[in-house]
Amino acid sequence: MQKESTRSRQGILVIGDFCVDLILTGDVRPRFGQVEQIVDDAAIDVGGSAAIFASQSAKLGARVKVVGSVGDDAFGKLISGELGRAGVDVSGLKPHPVLKTGIGVALSLPSDRAILTYMGTLDAMRPGDLDESLFDSVGHVHLASYFLLDAMRGEWTRWLALCRERGITTSMDTNWDPHRRWQGIEELLPYVDVFLPNEQEALAISRETNVEAAGKKLADQGPLVVIKRGADGATAFGRNETWTLTPNPSVGLPARVVDTTGAGDNFDAGFINAWLACAGIPASLELGHRCAIASLEQPGGMRGQKKQPVPETP
Ligand SMILES: Nc1ncnc2c1ncn2[C@@H]1O[C@H](COP(=O)(O)OP(=O)(O)OP(=O)(O)O)[C@@H](O)[C@H]1O
Ligand SMILES: [Mg+2]
Repeated sequence: MQKESTRSRQGILVIGDFCVDLILTGDVRPRFGQVEQIVDDAAIDVGGSAAIFASQSAKLGARVKVVGSVGDDAFGKLISGELGRAGVDVSGLKPHPVLKTGIGVALSLPSDRAILTYMGTLDAMRPGDLDESLFDSVGHVHLASYFLLDAMRGEWTRWLALCRERGITTSMDTNWDPHRRWQGIEELLPYVDVFLPNEQEALAISRETNVEAAGKKLADQGPLVVIKRGADGATAFGRNETWTLTPNPSVGLPARVVDTTGAGDNFDAGFINAWLACAGIPASLELGHRCAIASLEQPGGMRGQKKQPVPETP
């Protein structure tokens, strides 16, 4: 893991997935046979793990730019517009000449959700979309949704090694593997400073059956491993030490869970921004958790986001 002296929030590059989420809440279990069903609420929000991370980071006071693909359509403009308003540099968000913007339709219950995904540009990133100049004036790189970016699989070792060479810190949240193969991560971990899977992802990637064994095995490859555990909080695993945050009134409990979309991505942004400000691991877990629960209380990943600069530790 990189030394504290090399960490910087002035220039976070976020690479990954951008889409639009339509979130329906209430009686959302569909019934076929021409049934028209009335739901409680509908919200359209910018989604994609990279988009949510970038937006929350900018709201926490970081200088952020994004790289990825959107469609040359109304949803693509919505994404650029919303991220731009949050203060994110969207010049690296390229409108695709052919594909339409990806869409996630979330049927959201307080304790669970089903998502219908139209991929569109979600996995449109290609090796030629990255070049060395994107890494100029960058202090940290966050790679989101590794498993969605199929065409980029062979590329990341090179780019993450370049980051290490240039003293750029790195973090990664793979999210779920839709193919359920869970491969390719081990070779990247030595170049990753902070790895942020959720519990199921950590077990699947490490091929372990309990969180402690998974966290230790993944941390042995090099990174600080932060495993998100839903209502049970989160545990960080270093080489020889672990830290656990258990949700309670002093670190915050969600007043109500409206929609879980983006909780993990907002957690990532809170954790990484505190970590980059050298806040220490317990305080980084706490900011991650606070950003996550703010997002649980609103539909979508961006509405509930905290707008509050993180103080730099002198
Ligand atoms: N019901 C809850 N009560 C309290 N805290 C919660 C609850 N659900 C989530 N959290 C907080 O949000 C964090 C991230 O949630 P989760 O573990 O669901 O991440 P994730 O699976 O990566 O999410 P995503 O679906 O966005 O990928 C948790 O580590 C915890 O801090
Ligand atoms: Mg996640």
